[in-house]
Amino acid sequence: MNAALTPGIEVHASREAACRALAREIAALLHAKPGAVLGLPTGNTPEPLYRELVRLHREERLSFARTRSFNLDEYLGLPAGDPHSFRVRMQQQLFAETDFAPQNVHIPHSDADAEPEVRRYAGSLAAAGGIDLQVLGIGRNGHIGFNEPGSARESRTRVVALAPETRAGAAPSFGGLAHVPERAITLGVADILEARTIRVLAFGKAKAEIVQRMLEGPIGPACPASFLRGHGDLRLLLDAEAAGGLRR
Ligand code: F6R
Repeated sequence: MNAALTPGIEVHASREAACRALAREIAALLHAKPGAVLGLPTGNTPEPLYRELVRLHREERLSFARTRSFNLDEYLGLPAGDPHSFRVRMQQQLFAETDFAPQNVHIPHSDADAEPEVRRYAGSLAAAGGIDLQVLGIGRNGHIGFNEPGSARESRTRVVALAPETRAGAAPSFGGLAHVPERAITLGVADILEARTIRVLAFGKAKAEIVQRMLEGPIGPACPASFLRGHGDLRLLLDAEAAGGLRR
């Protein structure tokens, strides 16, 4: 792995255009390998991607019937079926709108006993043979999944404490900070880096500074997204605003 490798950076006309390009790549992968393993994020960033995948399913008969998916992370301490859980959001935005088979969809359980759930989740990913294509968003603090600043390059699937800024960012949608979980289960940085292909989406002015740090700042745990620069098949799909802080 070459830490100095320059990743492919694509600046698209809009977030929708970027997501259409990534959806086409995912469709090509699934045509070539219907049982491929996708690594998926939640959040605002991938919403246009999931809309486009649903459209491809409905209008162009893209099938996910054999596709396997692993979500990056899930809050801990929410009851099953909680509308704030990533499981419910994924169900609404993608899984229930396509032909994903429930047994092929993997997300940590938000109401589980944490440590056994970590072992179960890591075991399921290993049994699936790892991730073929990992889609990522980036937190404004540089987190990928819930690998908050301070996470090691070698970190694995585990229970994490959410950073104060991550909880504060989620507070409005939870109706106040007091309702935001304090812990989550996340794939580790090392698990993410083992994906054969990594595609990062970042849109809007609010992401410009962290995109710049990720690509042009020091590589290290202060910005976990910077570790991605060591990956051999990495592309960033940005809009002009998110690319606005790059020097080159
Ligand atoms: C979510 C996740 C996070 C988000 C990041 C960006 O599963 O892993 O790392 O990708 O917090 O969130 P948005 O897209 O809401 O800006």
